[in-house]
Amino acid sequence: MVNKNETDQLIEKAIEARQHGYAPYSRFLVGAAVLTDRGIFTGCNVETFSSSGTLCAERVALFKAVSEGARHLISIAIVADTTVPCPPCGFCRQVMAEFGRSCTVAMSNLAGERKTMSLRELLPDPFISTTLRTSHDRECTDLC
Ligand code: THU
Repeated sequence: MVNKNETDQLIEKAIEARQHGYAPYSRFLVGAAVLTDRGIFTGCNVETFSSSGTLCAERVALFKAVSEGARHLISIAIVADTTVPCPPCGFCRQVMAEFGRSCTVAMSNLAGERKTMSLRELLPDPFISTTLRTSHDRECTDLC
């Protein structure tokens, strides 16, 4: 679990990153900041006219971190101008699980409301290799 100062700092960085959001289609700006084994990285949402090209702020921040050598997500902060602290979408939860099964997720809005949950609460059963075996794996194990 991360302490309050670290969470405050991450939320501040997410608020700053949100200002760079590129959201001409939805007009919904999102900022994110991740604390990793390689330090802090930030991201904003980036939209394209073809909606499937759009990437959420959380994944931009996390992919920036991974592309700089980070492999362990400790915590993430998400900020949007929402009526409740902004929760991450399902795709982003799945990507978080890839790099930080036990990470902390700090959700926030511009009014300063906050909600912190563990990723285990937000995504109890992710699709990840360590928890799933294929029938092929099972056959191999049974034969050995
Ligand atoms: N968005 C995020 O950045 N994070 C989320 O967790 C949910 C959605 C963005 C994607 C898109 O640019 C806009 O919000 C509206 O869906």
